[in-house]
Amino acid sequence: MKIAIVGPGAMGCLFAAFLSKTDADIVLIDKDSQRAEKINQQGIIVEGVSGSWQAKVKVTSDIKDIGALDLILLCVKSYDTKSACAQVKLLAGENTLVLTLQNGIGNIEILGEIIGQDKIIAGITNLGSTLIGFGHINHAGFGETIIGRMDNKLPAGMRSIREVFNKAGLDTRISRDIKGLLWSKLVINAGINPLSAITRLKNGRLVEAEPARKILRETVTEVVKVIKRKRIKLIFDDPLAKVEAVCEATAGNVSSMLQDVLNNKRTEIDFINGVVVRMAQELGVPAPVNSFLVELVKTIEISYGLSLK
Ligand code: PAF
Repeated sequence: MKIAIVGPGAMGCLFAAFLSKTDADIVLIDKDSQRAEKINQQGIIVEGVSGSWQAKVKVTSDIKDIGALDLILLCVKSYDTKSACAQVKLLAGENTLVLTLQNGIGNIEILGEIIGQDKIIAGITNLGSTLIGFGHINHAGFGETIIGRMDNKLPAGMRSIREVFNKAGLDTRISRDIKGLLWSKLVINAGINPLSAITRLKNGRLVEAEPARKILRETVTEVVKVIKRKRIKLIFDDPLAKVEAVCEATAGNVSSMLQDVLNNKRTEIDFINGVVVRMAQELGVPAPVNSFLVELVKTIEISYGLSLK
């Protein structure tokens, strides 16, 4: 199986390193040629729960000679999905599947429109990874990866992806309820990410510190109201308990949004709580806490020089 991973961030490096343990042919694509060359030479350096190890992975910014691919794994931030599509479109052949495990809601729609809905596989991953430097990550946690399609079809290629991911040691299964799954992950991200980014607390502290826990619960309650009005069924019965359990299970994690803020980068707020606020407005459901969190995160982005989009 030939796989291109687009984006050398925390998740892209983690998948590239693990998948390089299999007989799959892996290429990591980085739009920055200098960084690509550096990672190419040093390999991907992994520390954390899987130990300290290094993976030799081919990294390139030149996509001309990559050839036919079975899979493109998109590991860019949600706000870069649209711009990455140009590259993905050039890379995708007739039989190539494109997998998004990105946080938030909206990526499938963007990809589907430009690449074609038939090629898209979506999912979530509970793997944890933090970028320490170019091609250097802290593998923060193991966790399940779940993939599926919005149309619930089961193309053979999807089973091959499951097989190769599992061979790499990445616990992966297929779900027939990908919509429920994506919205369930959104509930978790909407509760944890902005609050951790604003308070700079690791996930575990969000439930230990009572005032933070109160905000977390109010945020999640609003998100669930919107989801109920959209008649989307979550994969867990008690969303509040689930989000708190994820905080505990990933207690040591610096959430991806907090990582962005600490690195003065744009966050995925528009694809997480921003989606909730927009839907709440359309439905006439109040979502003041989510709205407030969105404005605060955007204010933080402005504080380090990003213009408001
Ligand atoms: O975005 C993240 O950091 C992760 O999706 C999660 C589940 C919040 C854990 O840190």
